[in-house]
Amino acid sequence: MRSKIFKRLAILSTAFVTGLFFYQGVNAQGNTWETDLKKVKAPGSHGTVLMDKNTRSSKTIEPVLFPHWAHRAKYTCKACHTDLGFAMKPNATGVTQADIESGKYCGSCHNGTTSFPVSNCKRCHSYGAQNAGNSNIDDSLKDLPKDHFGNKVDWVKAVREGKIKPAASPDGKGTLDALDMDVVIPVTKFTPHPPDVLFPHKAHTEQMNCETCHTSIFKQQKGGNPEMNMIKIISGQYCGTCHVKVAFPLDDCFRCHSQPAPKIEEPKDEKAADKTKAEVKTISK
Ligand code: HEC
Ligand code: HEC
Ligand code: HEC
Ligand code: HEC
Ligand code: HEC
Ligand code: HEC
Repeated sequence: MRSKIFKRLAILSTAFVTGLFFYQGVNAQGNTWETDLKKVKAPGSHGTVLMDKNTRSSKTIEPVLFPHWAHRAKYTCKACHTDLGFAMKPNATGVTQADIESGKYCGSCHNGTTSFPVSNCKRCHSYGAQNAGNSNIDDSLKDLPKDHFGNKVDWVKAVREGKIKPAASPDGKGTLDALDMDVVIPVTKFTPHPPDVLFPHKAHTEQMNCETCHTSIFKQQKGGNPEMNMIKIISGQYCGTCHVKVAFPLDDCFRCHSQPAPKIEEPKDEKAADKTKAEVKTISK
């Protein structure tokens, strides 16, 4: 039993240390927001992507900050990542200013009709700018259901309660057929194991096509991804493709590990059981 308790502490400290590494990794990319570990990460920074492939060496214009939170209230992931061809990886699309001016990528909406025009350079090229004229997440999203992590918005509830109606395509005419199918992913590879994971297709297919995940991220079969584990997820694979940066972050363990907690076996003989209780008491002090 003692070794079980130590194992559990080991899991928690591993999660914490990887968390710290990850946090520093994020900040090493040169984001402008607060890097003080004692402070809570600003909700507006979650899912804000630094696009600097073509501006990094520019002496005349700042790199671009793309805020997911400002767009998610209006569009599903499909509208941009399937229909407009944005990669789900920073700087992987290779957007140029000429693309935008010819109405591609950001330019399909930032045309002065759907949203502010291309002439408004600073609102996009806002890296390091004190006041680019953009809105504040606390004011913009104040009427949406709250959550504890990431953008501090429960995006699933916001859709279900009809508070937002994100469009399935940039022109608003597309549709998405949500699939209501839960898949339980058992976490038995590891003992003692945390509660099993429930993967809900519905919350995902309200936002994206099957092709977003099948089969580039997941084989389309229950138990078909035996190489998946938490370390890979934290490093941005599998669920971590989205749940590290854009969807609710990995800090919210039990939103994924949501199945009933596994029973912990009690030792058979009573003396050992009493000893365990005493140990648990000492630890919880
Ligand atoms: C709707 C958002 C948006 C607006 C508005 C915008 N840009 Fe850009 N611009 C981008 C993005 C995204 C990139 C690609 C960033 C990267 O990869 O570094 C880019 C790239 C650039 C580049 C890099 C070189 C190149 O040709 O791609 C320059 C220079 C540039 N923009 C200038 C401007 C100027 C000047 C304005 C205002 C007249 C402007 N941009 C307005 C989004 C915008
Ligand atoms: C209005 C367009 C738009 C919408 C809507 C959108 N994205 Fe993105 N997303 C982008 C752009 C632009 C990038 C940056 C691509 C680049 O730099 O080449 C990006 C990047 C990403 C990345 C990589 C982020 C990183 O820093 O590692 C992920 C993950 C992602 N998006 C997931 C999503 C998910 C999930 C949704 C739906 C909830 C979504 N996106 C909705 C435009 C959009
Ligand atoms: C599918 C349409 C669409 C695409 C593509 C799109 N945007 Fe937007 N964007 C909008 C709309 C609509 C708003 C206004 C949201 C609002 O008023 O609440 C907006 C708002 C913004 C804002 C202001 C957010 C704020 O805080 O006020 C920025 C910055 C921005 N977009 C940058 C970009 C960049 C950079 C790209 C490309 C990498 C891009 N957008 C691609 C539709 C789009
Ligand atoms: C966000 C990612 C994601 C999207 C989008 C998605 N799936 Fe899945 N799907 C999964 C995961 C994760 C599993 C479970 C894999 C495992 O157990 O290893 C799965 C499993 C499945 C299975 C196997 C179920 C079983 O019991 O064997 C089917 C069938 C399936 N998906 C169909 C679809 C269809 C159809 C769509 C589009 C309507 C879709 N999926 C969209 C992630 C996704
Ligand atoms: C392609 C992007 C993507 C991948 C991959 C992905 N998710 Fe999600 N997930 C989302 C988005 C977007 C939401 C909507 C909520 C949000 O953005 O916070 C969501 C929501 C959820 C929810 C909340 C459902 C609710 O009712 O509140 C759970 C649970 C979840 N995901 C689990 C998983 C698990 C487990 C995996 C891996 C097996 C996974 N997701 C992979 C994008 C993704
Ligand atoms: C986005 C969903 C999601 C979130 C959030 C999440 N996990 Fe996981 N976790 C998974 C999945 C999926 C697996 C892999 C299950 C399998 O295939 O064995 C897993 C596996 C694990 C395992 C088993 C060991 C391993 O590496 O497979 C541990 C321990 C674990 N998670 C701990 C945590 C902790 C602690 C947190 C919170 C800091 C957390 N998880 C948050 C989805 C999630």
